[in-house]
Amino acid sequence: MEKRSKMQLALQMISGYGAEFSAWRMPGTDPAAYTNMDSYVERAKLAEQGKFQMIFIAVTPVLSSNLGPQTPMFPMDPMLALMAVARETKHIGLVATLSTTFNYPYNIARQFKALDVISHGRVGWNAVTTSDPLAAANFGARVTERKERYDKAHESIQIVQALWGSWESDAWTLDVEGGKFADMDKIQPINLQGQYYASRGPLPIPPSEQGQPVIFQAGGGREGLELAGKYASGVYANPYDIASAREHRQAIRQSAVRFGRNPDDIKMFAGFMFSLASTEEEALNRRKQLMNFNPQEIPNRVSYLGSMIGVPLSVNLVDIDKPIPADLLKNAYANPRDPRSPIALKLLLQGLSVRDVLAHGVINYHPVVAGTPTQVADFLEEWFLAEACDRFSVVPDVSFDGVADFVNQVIPILQERGLFHKEYEGKTLRENMSIPYEYGMREYGINE
Ligand SMILES: Cc1cc2nc3c(=O)[nH]c(=O)nc-3n(C[C@H](O)[C@H](O)[C@H](O)COP(=O)(O)O)c2cc1C
Repeated sequence: MEKRSKMQLALQMISGYGAEFSAWRMPGTDPAAYTNMDSYVERAKLAEQGKFQMIFIAVTPVLSSNLGPQTPMFPMDPMLALMAVARETKHIGLVATLSTTFNYPYNIARQFKALDVISHGRVGWNAVTTSDPLAAANFGARVTERKERYDKAHESIQIVQALWGSWESDAWTLDVEGGKFADMDKIQPINLQGQYYASRGPLPIPPSEQGQPVIFQAGGGREGLELAGKYASGVYANPYDIASAREHRQAIRQSAVRFGRNPDDIKMFAGFMFSLASTEEEALNRRKQLMNFNPQEIPNRVSYLGSMIGVPLSVNLVDIDKPIPADLLKNAYANPRDPRSPIALKLLLQGLSVRDVLAHGVINYHPVVAGTPTQVADFLEEWFLAEACDRFSVVPDVSFDGVADFVNQVIPILQERGLFHKEYEGKTLRENMSIPYEYGMREYGINE
């Protein structure tokens, strides 16, 4: 068993503003952070000062938000943002998502491997199948059934790995005197032909300092678990409570064992969001301020909250600054289809107003801690010691001050408690993630 004394942290950067779509209006934020690469670089440098193991950029190739009040959810281009960060940092890992459904494996292999070489071995690829119909439409396609998406993903990852290994580790000779740039006997085509994808290779890129990028995965169901177990060293997940997180982590570990791997070589990252302030009340006020920047969304949030507790709520029916009247709450129940429902119901039964309950983040994509640095550290400690996850993907509400506050106020508490490292252990992402060296494709045939 891995010694579970230290957690690891990934900083989720996404569009550059933070978790909340309205973060661009927060005083102090550069409203144009979306196109300002300095903004990514500054946040990444802060994260590096805090010894974060990596930054992570989730991406779906689609413009899905309402650009009236909201920012785009994803960056202009993740690889270009990471390239800017790579040139200005030295230690922090650089991980981005690229879809196996809508990209040729050759392009994926080339982009990630080039960045891995440029950054001296700090890169990871989050391989996802992408099931958003609007993303599919951007490629003139429709979302296909899950089996086909995952069959494609297996082919894609194997071809990408094989291309990454298409130079033997000592192929780049750089022999100036002998006039031999590289040893062509050690640079070979891969000649892989699958049902959906094929590639001849080789890639025009030598090995990086970590051999090749680290593979991550995020996705659902039995097929997602299988993909993770077979290839991934990191898995991004979105559990909402400790019990389901533990179950998911065990399932991921068992899947790795089924593919003949050591379960400690696959690390589950649980997503979590935070709003920091010196008191819980101030943190909740910060979240209410963010909510007020986007008032058009409030009616949707209120009716969604209603669906979580089996009560038809609307802004016309209730005063959102007051507790829900007892006669409306008497038949409320936690909707079993949404794991966030029990927390929402508990807060409403405690007599909090609808606005306060929403400010607690009960309908956010990940669990939310709105509170003091100690409360945030307590949450991370509890999940980590309960073996709910191996790592965290942390998402600030607003990046411009949230990253600095986390680094200056939460990291020292985690370090003091012996839960987080004080120095980078190695140079490459593999070394810093404590995962084994891999090079090229392991021994599996296409779609076996
Ligand atoms: C934690 C998590 C993170 C994800 N991140 C991304 C992402 O960055 N980009 C993307 O296109 N899809 C992302 N997905 C969605 C998957 O690609 C896939 O579309 C989704 O899991 C639904 O399909 P499936 O259940 O068949 O896997 C993510 C899914 C999960 C669970």
